[in-house]
Amino acid sequence: MKYKHIVLTRVGGPEVLQLREDEIPEPRAGEIRVRILAAGVAFADVLMRHGKYPTMPPPPFTPGYDLVGIVEKCGVSVDERLRGQTVAAFTRFGSYSQYCCLPEREVVPVPEHVDPAEAVSLVLNYVTAYQMLHRSAHIKTGERVLVHGAAGGVGTALLQLGSLAHLEMYGTASRAKQQLVERLGATPIDYTSEDFVARIRLLTGDGVDTVFDPIGGQHLQRSFQTLRSGGRLIIYGFSLENLSGSNLPLVALRTLLQIAGWSILPNGKRVRWYSIAGGGFGLKDRHPEWFRADLTKLLELLAEGRIKPVIAQRLPLEEATHAHEMLEHARVQGKIVLIPNVS
Ligand SMILES: NC(=O)c1ccc[n+]([C@@H]2O[C@H](COP(=O)([O-])OP(=O)(O)OC[C@H]3O[C@@H](n4cnc5c(N)ncnc54)[C@H](OP(=O)(O)O)[C@@H]3O)[C@@H](O)[C@H]2O)c1
Repeated sequence: MKYKHIVLTRVGGPEVLQLREDEIPEPRAGEIRVRILAAGVAFADVLMRHGKYPTMPPPPFTPGYDLVGIVEKCGVSVDERLRGQTVAAFTRFGSYSQYCCLPEREVVPVPEHVDPAEAVSLVLNYVTAYQMLHRSAHIKTGERVLVHGAAGGVGTALLQLGSLAHLEMYGTASRAKQQLVERLGATPIDYTSEDFVARIRLLTGDGVDTVFDPIGGQHLQRSFQTLRSGGRLIIYGFSLENLSGSNLPLVALRTLLQIAGWSILPNGKRVRWYSIAGGGFGLKDRHPEWFRADLTKLLELLAEGRIKPVIAQRLPLEEATHAHEMLEHARVQGKIVLIPNVS
Protein backbone atom coordinates (compact mmCIF):
# COMPACT_ATOMS: atom_id res chain seq x y z
CA MET A 1 0.00 0.00 0.00
CA LYS A 2 1.20 3.50 -0.82
CA TYR A 3 1.23 6.54 1.47
CA LYS A 4 1.95 10.24 1.01
CA HIS A 5 4.57 12.23 2.86
CA ILE A 6 6.48 15.47 2.45
CA VAL A 7 10.20 15.32 1.76
CA LEU A 8 12.59 18.20 2.46
CA THR A 9 14.65 17.53 -0.65
CA ARG A 10 17.47 20.02 0.00
CA VAL A 11 18.20 23.27 1.83
CA GLY A 12 16.27 26.12 0.22
CA GLY A 13 12.95 27.94 -0.14
CA PRO A 14 9.52 26.45 0.60
CA GLU A 15 9.51 24.81 -2.87
CA VAL A 16 12.08 22.22 -1.67
CA LEU A 17 9.23 20.60 0.30
CA GLN A 18 7.85 18.00 -2.09
CA LEU A 19 4.98 15.56 -1.82
CA ARG A 20 6.11 11.96 -2.42
CA GLU A 21 4.36 8.60 -2.58
CA ASP A 22 6.12 5.55 -1.23
CA GLU A 23 5.43 2.08 0.14
CA ILE A 24 3.90 2.31 3.59
CA PRO A 25 6.56 1.64 6.29
CA GLU A 26 6.42 -1.51 8.46
CA PRO A 27 6.99 -1.20 12.23
CA ARG A 28 10.11 -2.98 13.50
CA ALA A 29 10.38 -4.77 16.85
CA GLY A 30 9.37 -2.38 19.64
CA GLU A 31 7.76 0.04 17.17
CA ILE A 32 4.22 0.99 16.25
CA ARG A 33 2.80 2.43 13.05
CA VAL A 34 0.63 5.50 13.52
CA ARG A 35 -1.98 6.83 11.09
CA ILE A 36 -1.40 10.55 11.53
CA LEU A 37 -4.43 12.81 12.16
CA ALA A 38 -2.53 16.03 12.94
CA ALA A 39 1.08 17.18 12.53
CA GLY A 40 2.36 20.50 13.85
CA VAL A 41 4.31 22.91 11.66
CA ALA A 42 7.08 24.35 13.82
CA PHE A 43 9.42 27.30 13.35
CA ALA A 44 12.22 24.78 13.84
CA ASP A 45 11.08 23.09 10.59
CA VAL A 46 11.58 26.42 8.79
CA LEU A 47 15.06 26.75 10.33
CA MET A 48 15.87 23.19 9.15
CA ARG A 49 14.74 24.04 5.62
CA HIS A 50 17.23 26.92 5.74
CA GLY A 51 19.92 24.54 7.02
CA LYS A 52 20.08 26.60 10.24
CA TYR A 53 19.16 23.99 12.79
CA PRO A 54 21.71 22.12 14.90
CA THR A 55 21.50 18.31 14.93
CA MET A 56 19.27 18.13 11.84
CA PRO A 57 19.79 15.15 9.53
CA PRO A 58 21.18 15.80 6.04
CA PRO A 59 18.38 16.14 3.42
CA PRO A 60 16.43 14.36 2.06
CA PHE A 61 14.20 13.68 5.05
CA THR A 62 10.60 14.12 6.14
CA PRO A 63 10.21 17.04 8.55
CA GLY A 64 7.67 17.24 11.37
CA TYR A 65 8.26 17.76 15.06
CA ASP A 66 5.10 16.26 16.53
CA LEU A 67 2.03 14.21 15.77
CA VAL A 68 -1.31 12.95 17.02
CA GLY A 69 -2.64 9.81 15.40
CA ILE A 70 -4.11 6.36 15.81
CA VAL A 71 -1.97 3.28 16.41
CA GLU A 72 -2.68 1.12 13.39
CA LYS A 73 -0.11 -1.66 13.62
CA CYS A 74 2.16 -3.03 16.35
CA GLY A 75 5.61 -4.50 15.72
CA VAL A 76 7.00 -7.59 17.46
CA SER A 77 7.05 -7.32 21.28
CA VAL A 78 4.57 -4.41 21.38
CA ASP A 79 1.39 -4.82 23.43
CA GLU A 80 -1.38 -5.40 20.85
CA ARG A 81 -3.86 -3.57 23.07
CA LEU A 82 -2.25 -0.33 21.89
CA ARG A 83 -3.88 -0.83 18.49
CA GLY A 84 -6.72 1.68 17.96
CA GLN A 85 -5.44 4.00 20.73
CA THR A 86 -5.05 7.71 19.92
CA VAL A 87 -1.55 8.83 20.85
CA ALA A 88 0.68 11.90 20.76
CA ALA A 89 4.41 11.87 20.09
CA PHE A 90 7.38 14.21 19.87
CA THR A 91 9.18 13.07 16.73
CA ARG A 92 11.51 16.00 15.75
CA PHE A 93 11.37 14.63 12.16
CA GLY A 94 8.92 12.56 10.16
CA SER A 95 5.39 13.72 10.99
CA TYR A 96 4.56 15.60 7.73
CA SER A 97 3.20 12.27 6.59
CA GLN A 98 0.12 10.06 6.48
CA TYR A 99 1.94 7.31 8.42
CA CYS A 100 4.99 7.08 10.61
CA CYS A 101 6.68 4.27 12.58
CA LEU A 102 8.17 5.08 15.97
CA PRO A 103 9.21 3.37 19.19
CA GLU A 104 6.28 2.42 21.44
CA ARG A 105 8.00 4.12 24.41
CA GLU A 106 7.75 7.52 22.66
CA VAL A 107 3.96 7.74 22.64
CA VAL A 108 1.64 9.29 25.20
CA PRO A 109 -2.09 8.37 25.27
CA VAL A 110 -4.49 11.11 24.21
CA PRO A 111 -7.84 11.37 26.06
CA GLU A 112 -10.96 10.57 24.04
CA HIS A 113 -12.90 13.32 22.27
CA VAL A 114 -10.15 15.93 22.15
CA ASP A 115 -9.46 17.66 18.83
CA PRO A 116 -6.27 16.14 17.30
CA ALA A 117 -5.16 19.58 16.00
CA GLU A 118 -5.49 21.11 19.45
CA ALA A 119 -3.80 18.09 21.06
CA VAL A 120 -0.81 18.24 18.68
CA SER A 121 -0.26 21.91 19.61
CA LEU A 122 0.59 20.77 23.12
CA VAL A 123 3.45 18.43 22.21
CA LEU A 124 6.11 20.98 21.28
CA ASN A 125 4.67 24.42 22.03
CA TYR A 126 2.82 23.87 25.29
CA VAL A 127 5.39 21.51 26.79
CA THR A 128 8.07 24.11 25.96
CA ALA A 129 5.96 26.86 27.54
CA TYR A 130 5.06 24.76 30.58
CA GLN A 131 8.63 23.66 31.26
CA MET A 132 10.01 27.17 30.85
CA LEU A 133 7.42 28.54 33.30
CA HIS A 134 7.54 25.79 35.89
CA ARG A 135 10.86 23.97 35.50
CA SER A 136 13.21 26.78 34.37
CA ALA A 137 11.73 30.02 35.75
CA HIS A 138 9.87 28.42 38.70
CA ILE A 139 7.25 31.19 38.42
CA LYS A 140 5.03 32.07 41.37
CA THR A 141 1.47 33.40 41.41
CA GLY A 142 1.29 37.15 40.85
CA GLU A 143 4.73 37.48 39.25
CA ARG A 144 5.25 39.68 36.21
CA VAL A 145 6.40 38.19 32.93
CA LEU A 146 7.28 39.58 29.51
CA VAL A 147 6.61 37.22 26.59
CA HIS A 148 8.20 38.08 23.24
CA GLY A 149 6.54 36.76 20.08
CA ALA A 150 3.39 36.60 22.21
CA ALA A 151 1.00 35.82 19.34
CA GLY A 152 3.14 32.97 18.00
CA GLY A 153 2.89 29.25 18.72
CA VAL A 154 4.94 29.21 21.94
CA GLY A 155 3.92 32.76 22.87
CA THR A 156 0.19 31.97 22.92
CA ALA A 157 0.93 28.84 24.96
CA LEU A 158 2.96 30.90 27.48
CA LEU A 159 0.07 33.35 27.82
CA GLN A 160 -2.59 30.66 28.35
CA LEU A 161 -0.50 28.78 30.91
CA GLY A 162 0.61 32.07 32.50
CA SER A 163 -3.01 33.06 32.89
CA LEU A 164 -3.77 29.73 34.65
CA ALA A 165 -0.87 30.54 37.01
CA HIS A 166 -2.32 34.05 37.67
CA LEU A 167 0.67 35.95 36.33
CA GLU A 168 0.74 39.63 35.39
CA MET A 169 1.64 39.40 31.71
CA TYR A 170 3.06 41.67 29.01
CA GLY A 171 3.49 40.49 25.42
CA THR A 172 5.28 41.90 22.39
CA ALA A 173 3.71 41.41 18.95
CA SER A 174 3.30 43.35 15.72
CA ARG A 175 0.29 45.61 15.35
CA ALA A 176 -2.17 43.17 13.72
CA LYS A 177 -1.70 40.69 16.58
CA GLN A 178 -2.29 43.04 19.53
CA GLN A 179 -5.92 41.96 19.97
CA LEU A 180 -5.04 38.29 20.33
CA VAL A 181 -2.40 39.11 22.97
CA GLU A 182 -4.95 41.15 24.89
CA ARG A 183 -7.61 38.43 24.58
CA LEU A 184 -5.13 35.97 26.13
CA GLY A 185 -4.80 38.19 29.19
CA ALA A 186 -1.60 40.17 28.56
CA THR A 187 -0.90 43.87 28.05
CA PRO A 188 0.21 44.05 24.40
CA ILE A 189 3.28 46.01 23.34
CA ASP A 190 3.74 46.78 19.64
CA TYR A 191 7.50 46.29 19.40
CA THR A 192 7.49 47.63 15.83
CA SER A 193 6.45 51.12 16.93
CA GLU A 194 7.56 51.42 20.57
CA ASP A 195 10.62 50.69 22.67
CA PHE A 196 9.60 47.68 24.78
CA VAL A 197 12.28 48.37 27.43
CA ALA A 198 10.96 51.90 28.07
CA ARG A 199 7.35 50.68 27.97
CA ILE A 200 7.99 47.92 30.54
CA ARG A 201 9.68 50.44 32.84
CA LEU A 202 6.71 52.77 32.48
CA LEU A 203 4.14 50.01 33.07
CA THR A 204 5.86 48.19 35.93
CA GLY A 205 8.22 50.63 37.61
CA ASP A 206 11.04 48.24 38.49
CA GLY A 207 10.70 45.67 35.68
CA VAL A 208 9.51 42.08 35.26
CA ASP A 209 10.39 38.88 37.15
CA THR A 210 10.89 36.82 33.99
CA VAL A 211 11.33 37.53 30.30
CA PHE A 212 11.05 34.78 27.66
CA ASP A 213 13.16 35.54 24.58
CA PRO A 214 12.95 33.56 21.29
CA ILE A 215 14.66 36.30 19.22
CA GLY A 216 18.33 36.17 20.34
CA GLY A 217 21.28 38.33 19.21
CA GLN A 218 21.20 42.02 20.22
CA HIS A 219 17.63 41.55 21.45
CA LEU A 220 18.88 39.64 24.52
CA GLN A 221 20.63 42.69 25.96
CA ARG A 222 17.38 44.67 25.76
CA SER A 223 15.37 41.83 27.29
CA PHE A 224 17.89 41.71 30.15
CA GLN A 225 17.23 45.43 30.77
CA THR A 226 13.51 44.79 31.40
CA LEU A 227 14.29 42.60 34.44
CA ARG A 228 13.94 43.80 37.97
CA SER A 229 16.76 42.94 40.37
CA GLY A 230 16.69 39.17 40.95
CA GLY A 231 14.70 38.53 37.72
CA ARG A 232 15.49 35.86 35.10
CA LEU A 233 15.91 35.85 31.37
CA ILE A 234 14.93 32.59 29.64
CA ILE A 235 16.45 32.30 26.16
CA TYR A 236 14.87 29.66 23.93
CA GLY A 237 15.27 30.50 20.26
CA PHE A 238 16.59 32.70 17.50
CA SER A 239 14.78 34.62 14.79
CA LEU A 240 15.77 33.84 11.21
CA GLU A 241 17.35 37.32 10.89
CA ASN A 242 19.62 36.57 13.83
CA LEU A 243 20.78 33.35 12.17
CA SER A 244 20.99 34.58 8.57
CA GLY A 245 24.50 34.44 7.24
CA SER A 246 25.81 33.25 10.61
CA ASN A 247 27.60 30.17 11.63
CA LEU A 248 25.42 28.32 14.16
CA PRO A 249 28.15 27.14 16.57
CA LEU A 250 29.50 30.72 16.60
CA VAL A 251 26.06 32.16 17.47
CA ALA A 252 25.72 29.59 20.27
CA LEU A 253 29.21 30.35 21.60
CA ARG A 254 28.62 34.11 21.50
CA THR A 255 25.34 33.65 23.41
CA LEU A 256 26.99 31.40 26.01
CA LEU A 257 29.77 33.99 26.55
CA GLN A 258 27.12 36.70 26.92
CA ILE A 259 25.29 34.55 29.52
CA ALA A 260 28.55 33.94 31.41
CA GLY A 261 29.27 37.69 31.42
CA TRP A 262 25.83 38.54 32.80
CA SER A 263 26.06 35.84 35.47
CA ILE A 264 28.92 37.62 37.21
CA LEU A 265 27.09 40.97 37.47
CA PRO A 266 26.11 41.72 41.09
CA ASN A 267 22.42 42.38 40.41
CA GLY A 268 20.95 38.97 41.21
CA LYS A 269 19.61 38.61 37.65
CA ARG A 270 19.88 35.12 36.21
CA VAL A 271 19.94 33.81 32.65
CA ARG A 272 18.92 30.32 31.48
CA TRP A 273 18.91 28.67 28.09
CA TYR A 274 15.94 26.36 27.57
CA SER A 275 15.95 23.61 24.96
CA ILE A 276 13.32 20.89 24.80
CA ALA A 277 15.47 18.37 22.92
CA GLY A 278 18.53 17.94 20.77
CA GLY A 279 22.02 16.57 20.93
CA GLY A 280 21.37 14.96 24.32
CA PHE A 281 21.30 18.36 26.08
CA GLY A 282 17.59 19.20 25.90
CA LEU A 283 15.29 18.74 28.89
CA LYS A 284 13.48 15.85 27.18
CA ASP A 285 16.82 14.09 26.60
CA ARG A 286 17.85 14.55 30.23
CA HIS A 287 14.43 14.04 31.83
CA PRO A 288 12.14 12.02 29.52
CA GLU A 289 9.88 11.32 32.52
CA TRP A 290 9.26 15.09 32.97
CA PHE A 291 8.29 15.38 29.31
CA ARG A 292 5.80 12.52 29.68
CA ALA A 293 4.34 13.87 32.91
CA ASP A 294 4.06 17.43 31.58
CA LEU A 295 2.45 16.39 28.28
CA THR A 296 -0.01 14.12 30.14
CA LYS A 297 -0.95 16.98 32.44
CA LEU A 298 -1.44 19.36 29.50
CA LEU A 299 -3.63 16.81 27.70
CA GLU A 300 -5.78 16.60 30.85
CA LEU A 301 -6.08 20.41 30.94
CA LEU A 302 -7.17 20.30 27.30
CA ALA A 303 -9.74 17.56 27.93
CA GLU A 304 -11.11 19.60 30.86
CA GLY A 305 -11.40 22.69 28.63
CA ARG A 306 -8.98 24.69 30.78
CA ILE A 307 -6.67 25.46 27.86
CA LYS A 308 -7.59 26.01 24.21
CA PRO A 309 -4.71 26.25 21.74
CA VAL A 310 -5.03 28.93 19.08
CA ILE A 311 -5.09 27.14 15.73
CA ALA A 312 -4.05 29.50 12.94
CA GLN A 313 -4.98 27.10 10.11
CA ARG A 314 -5.59 23.43 9.37
CA LEU A 315 -4.09 22.49 6.04
CA PRO A 316 -3.79 19.29 4.00
CA LEU A 317 -0.33 17.76 3.57
CA GLU A 318 -0.21 19.14 0.02
CA GLU A 319 -0.09 22.67 1.48
CA ALA A 320 3.05 22.24 3.58
CA THR A 321 4.79 24.74 1.28
CA HIS A 322 2.12 27.36 1.97
CA ALA A 323 2.35 26.63 5.71
CA HIS A 324 6.11 27.33 5.63
CA GLU A 325 5.65 30.55 3.66
CA MET A 326 3.16 31.85 6.23
CA LEU A 327 5.25 30.84 9.24
CA GLU A 328 8.44 32.27 7.79
CA HIS A 329 6.80 35.64 7.11
CA ALA A 330 5.09 35.82 10.53
CA ARG A 331 1.61 35.72 8.99
CA VAL A 332 0.44 33.27 11.64
CA GLN A 333 -1.37 33.73 14.95
CA GLY A 334 -1.03 30.56 17.04
CA LYS A 335 -0.19 27.20 15.44
CA ILE A 336 -0.47 25.84 11.88
CA VAL A 337 -1.45 22.18 11.78
CA LEU A 338 -1.30 19.77 8.85
CA ILE A 339 -4.13 17.25 8.57
CA PRO A 340 -2.62 14.31 6.63
CA ASN A 341 -5.64 11.97 7.01
CA VAL A 342 -9.22 12.96 7.69
CA SER A 343 -10.46 11.03 10.76
N1 LIG B 1 14.16 25.95 22.82
C1 LIG B 1 13.16 25.15 22.49
O1 LIG B 1 13.08 24.02 22.97
C2 LIG B 1 12.11 25.65 21.56
C3 LIG B 1 10.87 25.01 21.46
C4 LIG B 1 9.91 25.54 20.60
C5 LIG B 1 10.22 26.67 19.83
N2 LIG B 1 11.46 27.22 19.93
C6 LIG B 1 11.83 28.42 19.16
O2 LIG B 1 11.04 29.49 19.60
C7 LIG B 1 10.88 30.42 18.54
C8 LIG B 1 9.41 30.78 18.40
O3 LIG B 1 8.69 29.63 17.99
P1 LIG B 1 7.16 29.74 17.64
O4 LIG B 1 6.71 28.40 17.23
O5 LIG B 1 6.42 30.43 18.70
O6 LIG B 1 7.25 30.69 16.34
P2 LIG B 1 6.10 31.53 15.65
O7 LIG B 1 4.78 30.86 15.83
O8 LIG B 1 6.60 31.86 14.29
O9 LIG B 1 6.05 32.88 16.52
C9 LIG B 1 7.10 33.75 16.65
C10 LIG B 1 6.55 35.18 16.47
O10 LIG B 1 7.52 36.10 16.93
C11 LIG B 1 7.17 37.36 16.38
N3 LIG B 1 8.38 38.16 16.28
C12 LIG B 1 9.32 38.17 15.31
N4 LIG B 1 10.29 39.05 15.60
C13 LIG B 1 9.94 39.60 16.79
C14 LIG B 1 10.54 40.57 17.64
N5 LIG B 1 11.70 41.18 17.29
N6 LIG B 1 9.94 40.89 18.81
C15 LIG B 1 8.78 40.29 19.17
N7 LIG B 1 8.16 39.37 18.40
C16 LIG B 1 8.74 39.03 17.23
C17 LIG B 1 6.50 37.09 15.05
O11 LIG B 1 5.22 37.74 15.02
P3 LIG B 1 5.06 39.32 14.87
O12 LIG B 1 6.40 39.89 14.59
O13 LIG B 1 4.09 39.54 13.73
O14 LIG B 1 4.48 39.75 16.18
C18 LIG B 1 6.31 35.58 15.03
O15 LIG B 1 5.04 35.22 14.59
C19 LIG B 1 11.52 29.80 17.31
O16 LIG B 1 12.84 30.28 17.19
C20 LIG B 1 11.55 28.32 17.66
O17 LIG B 1 12.53 27.62 16.98
C21 LIG B 1 12.40 26.74 20.77
